[in-house]
Amino acid sequence: MPYPYQIKTYDQYKQAYQKSVEDPEAFWADIAEHFYWRKKPSGKILNWNFKEPKIEWFKGAKLNITENCLDRHLEKNGNTPAIIWEPNDPDEKPRIISYKKLHEHVCRFAHVLKNNGVQKGDRVCIYMGMIPELAIAILACARIGAIHSVVFGGFSAQSISDRLMDAQATFIITCDGAYRGAKDIPLKNVIDDALIGNKTVKRVIVCTRTRIPVSMIKGRDVWWEEEMKRVEEQGLNFIEAEEMDAEDPLFILYTSGSTGKPKGVVHTSGGYMVYTNYSFVNVFQYQPGQVHFCTADIGWITGHSYIVYGPLSAGATSLMFEGVPTWPDAGRFWNIIDKFKVNILYTAPTAIRSLMGFGTAPLDRKDLSSLQILGTVGEPINEEAWHWYDENVGKKHCPIVDTWWQTENGGILISNLAGVTPAKPSYATLPLPGVQPILVDENGKEVEGNNVSGNLCIKFPWPGMLRTTYGDHERCRTNYFATYENLYFTGDGALRDENGFYRITGRVDDVLNVSGHRIGTAEVENAINMHAGVVESAVVGYPHDIKGQGIYAYVIFKGEGIEESLAKKDILQTVTRVIGAIAKPDKIQFVSGLPKTRSGKIMRRILRKIAEGETQNLGDTSTLLDPGVVDEIKKGKI
Ligand code: WT7
Repeated sequence: MPYPYQIKTYDQYKQAYQKSVEDPEAFWADIAEHFYWRKKPSGKILNWNFKEPKIEWFKGAKLNITENCLDRHLEKNGNTPAIIWEPNDPDEKPRIISYKKLHEHVCRFAHVLKNNGVQKGDRVCIYMGMIPELAIAILACARIGAIHSVVFGGFSAQSISDRLMDAQATFIITCDGAYRGAKDIPLKNVIDDALIGNKTVKRVIVCTRTRIPVSMIKGRDVWWEEEMKRVEEQGLNFIEAEEMDAEDPLFILYTSGSTGKPKGVVHTSGGYMVYTNYSFVNVFQYQPGQVHFCTADIGWITGHSYIVYGPLSAGATSLMFEGVPTWPDAGRFWNIIDKFKVNILYTAPTAIRSLMGFGTAPLDRKDLSSLQILGTVGEPINEEAWHWYDENVGKKHCPIVDTWWQTENGGILISNLAGVTPAKPSYATLPLPGVQPILVDENGKEVEGNNVSGNLCIKFPWPGMLRTTYGDHERCRTNYFATYENLYFTGDGALRDENGFYRITGRVDDVLNVSGHRIGTAEVENAINMHAGVVESAVVGYPHDIKGQGIYAYVIFKGEGIEESLAKKDILQTVTRVIGAIAKPDKIQFVSGLPKTRSGKIMRRILRKIAEGETQNLGDTSTLLDPGVVDEIKKGKI
């Protein structure tokens, strides 16, 4: 068997789970045996306390994750496709890159990085579209021990600038532009704006994709292709991998929380490698030769873990798609599945709901018979979408895995294992081995037994968890480990049914989940408040048919003589500039005041209910400073 640690029956799952709880160190040390280490894990496998927090897995062991993702497959599977790349335009030729070729590209680009002065530990910001060079850039950083920080191509110059500063990044890898559906996104222009006034970035490497005109600054900007050509001409097709400690940082990925400023979640190389591989192999029940298609963008954690590191460390074939599900038409996913005989499809409920809107016609005459396993991630999946996916895509013969996890987790924490453990629509079901969930009430008291609900925490470390938030460990502590003593708090609410299966009900903090992407309400409010005419604002989520949650903004606006609809557009433009188009409110309502308590706290509960369309049961409003404002807001609801 290719993966001796692949769980094949429900009983095996129960045994593995039990062992992982009784003796976590032995459990993970056994799994770690199946990787290539320069120096194997030995002695103390785990050091931890959630107080500081301090989490160390396999410390002292040495490895390079790229030797596990590339080199170790070369001898037997060098010609196996590592990446199948499908471009945005269905008429453009796809690219199929074998492990051998990918290894070569990564080694060459690692030389390019070194030639340009990148050293172990340097932070490299990557702002690219979904082309194979993005995966190559990531792996080349890992090869030489540089810490990558990928920023999703939808973020604004301001957001990039903040992230560059926070990580003290000295290098950037970008593209001239990116194709996304009908749009061309001018990535390098955005980087140029982000770099105005920046003093730390020394070099920008620009990869050609759309070949729109770009400004290339002498001494700072270089072309990817020219740099690669030089290395190739010198015959530098190999580079020795940097030996890393298991606890050396591998990457930073920024994510939103309940405060105004995104946090740089730090993952380390040993634990992250073991966990993404283990979860990939078990949740999706991957078999060699299968084609795995994760539709996420590599700019998010799902792409890091289940397009790049998880599949490649398992020697899998990972399909990477540049475009969007609905362009040039709503049959795009189905065409790709048909064309490449995809076996595993991993996508988001929001994509399923949006495709549902086109009916089943786009699926007609598409051969989806290669599909064996379906997955979802990013947000709770409603039963209607689950059944549509099951019937029309899986034709009722593909197990569906509903995978719950977070950027901070590195990999999937709660999910059924495809075809091995039971599924239940809208339930993530059971924790993976090594994951110890616990529900607590407001006071942090454990909610025991079944048929209960509470705030979801994890009481024991797993190898893929975050180690810190970059440059500010205290922030990591207060965000995740201070709400409840000795617990990692997820920010989600959950219920546990009569069988002990978990259903994630959504965030319990001021964080929205829009189309499977996390956005902090405070972050959106800060952006809105930057508009010169805005006095104050309050942002809440409301149920949205496709996005899961939409963004509803209540705004006190004092702009003189501006027409209301134009003022609202100005606000949208401001948010786009400050964060990016993904954070644009779906609805903006101008109000003369916000419901506040006598101590000045905004009563979001009331605003949320109004945004959800509730008019009657708004709960106790007697503590409000000015109850009249609630009637006005109700009348003006959009
Ligand atoms: C939040 C994490 C890592 C996955 C991509 C999003 C929500 C994620 C599920 C699911 C219900 C889910 C949670 C979580 N979420 N997966 N299967 N069922 N909710 O990563 O941006 O870090 O967001 O997404 O609310 O806290 P993220």
